[in-house]
Amino acid sequence: MEIKHLILSFLILSSIIYTNANSSDCIYTIYVQTADIPSAGTSANVSIFVGDDYKDELSISNLKDWGLMGSTHNYFRVGETDLFSLKGPCLRGPICSLIIVLSGYDNWFCDFIEITSVALGKSCSQKHFVVNKWLDINKGSALILQDECVSEYGSLRG
Ligand SMILES: *[C@@H]1O[C@H](CO)[C@@H](O)[C@H](O)[C@H]1NC(C)=O
Ligand SMILES: *[C@@H]1O[C@H](CO)[C@@H](O)[C@H](O)[C@H]1NC(C)=O
Repeated sequence: MEIKHLILSFLILSSIIYTNANSSDCIYTIYVQTADIPSAGTSANVSIFVGDDYKDELSISNLKDWGLMGSTHNYFRVGETDLFSLKGPCLRGPICSLIIVLSGYDNWFCDFIEITSVALGKSCSQKHFVVNKWLDINKGSALILQDECVSEYGSLRG
C-alpha cells in the first residue's frame, strides 16, 4: 500500500514536471573541432545557422554563450574540441545545411562541426559537417555548407 502510494505520488509529481517543461523542444549538442595547424584558433565569436530540407532554420548566435566548458574557457583554440548545448525548436527534417558566421578580428580554421538533436519521442538526428577551411574575416567571414539537402523541398542553393 505504502509503496503503491509512493509510486502514485511520484507519477503525479513527474507528470507535473514534464507538463511544465516544453516537450516540443529539441536539445542540440554541438561539437566544434579547431584544426591543429598554426594560427588556426580564433578569438572571434562564431554563430551558426542550422537548416533542413524544408528550409526550417535554427540560428544559434554566439556559440560561446552555449559552451559547456564554462565562461572563463577560451574557445576555438588550436587543436581543441569544444562542446556546446542548447534547447530550441525542433526542425521538421534532418539537419542538412550549415552556415557559419564569424565576427571578430582573427581568422579561424575549422576542421568540423557535428550537430546532434534529440527530442522526446523522436529519433536522434546527427550531422557531421566537414569544414576543413579557413574562415577569413577579410573575405566576409561567412561560410555556407550544404551536404545532403534534397532539392525537391527546395534547397537553400536556389
Ligand atoms: C514550446 O516550444 C515551442 C518551440 O520552441 C513553441 O512554439 C511553443 O509555443 C512552446 N509551447 C509552450 C506551451 O510553451
Ligand atoms: C563577442 O560576444 C561577446 C558577448 O558574448 C561580446 O561582448 C563581444 O563584444 C563579441 N565580440 C565580437 C568581436 O563581436
